[in-house]
Amino acid sequence: MFMKLTTAAVLAIGLVSGASAKPGEIENIDFSFDGPFGTYEKQQLQRGLQVYTEVCAACHGLKYVPIRTLADEGGPEIPMDQVRAYAKQFDVFDPELNDTRPGKPTDHFPKSALSNAPDLSLMAKARAGFEGPYGLGINQLFKGIGGPEYIVAILNGYTGKDKTEAGATLYENTAFPGGWIAMPPPLSDGAVTYADGAPNDQFRISEDVAAFLMWTAEPKLIARKETGFVAVLFLVLLSVLLYLTNKRIWSAVKGRGKDAEAK
Ligand code: HEC
Repeated sequence: MFMKLTTAAVLAIGLVSGASAKPGEIENIDFSFDGPFGTYEKQQLQRGLQVYTEVCAACHGLKYVPIRTLADEGGPEIPMDQVRAYAKQFDVFDPELNDTRPGKPTDHFPKSALSNAPDLSLMAKARAGFEGPYGLGINQLFKGIGGPEYIVAILNGYTGKDKTEAGATLYENTAFPGGWIAMPPPLSDGAVTYADGAPNDQFRISEDVAAFLMWTAEPKLIARKETGFVAVLFLVLLSVLLYLTNKRIWSAVKGRGKDAEAK
């Protein structure tokens, strides 16, 4: 039985390491939030928010994200007065006033402005860039599911070709399933200028916005990892204590056995 299990494990590991991405597939990117101890980099999230606001928000919404969370610890950590100022740019319909008013931090980001542009709140978790063979999920354990990588790949996957189909323009994109996407290439080198002077070539901009969208999809990622770590530590300690307790409880009985043998 044990042999069978070991063989199965070895085979499984072999299959996993042997299986690489399909051609033209999404490449892993080392994000600051990868791995068991990764955290979001607040400067990067702030840059990503800027990209979202200046470029993506023209079409895409973030309707599940409360604006106030921009101030949360572990996120972009924008000071509350700036969050208040940021919220004001949105016109929010208030059913109590039966009119629109400037946004407040307690409001959510608006819905998509363009009807065929999907909401981006959860996009980084809704799309998987990598897939383990046969759904084993080993790849995901080490590299994440590849949602942010998929977003980067989409933003950089344009070939420059387009076609018109049933009155709509489609753009060729190597990362998009089916190869043709309805989103016109949104980014270019220097599409945004960062206040902190960070590099703003197209690839870096796409990484920043992808990191920001990972945060919108999983704002509690860091807290979850911390809790997990504490839980593992606790379980290790508990195992040691149980082992020692077990020895102590049975020591009398075991000792008696030895004495009997000796006599
Ligand atoms: C001019 C409008 C427009 C802008 C600006 C825009 N998008 Fe899109 N986006 C679309 C549309 C339309 C779709 C749907 C495409 C389709 O389904 O063919 C889309 C789809 C997407 C998808 C989903 C792909 C999928 O797997 O379904 C992602 C991710 C995305 N956009 C990210 C972004 C990001 C990030 C930005 C900002 C850097 C951005 N978009 C800017 C219109 C836009």
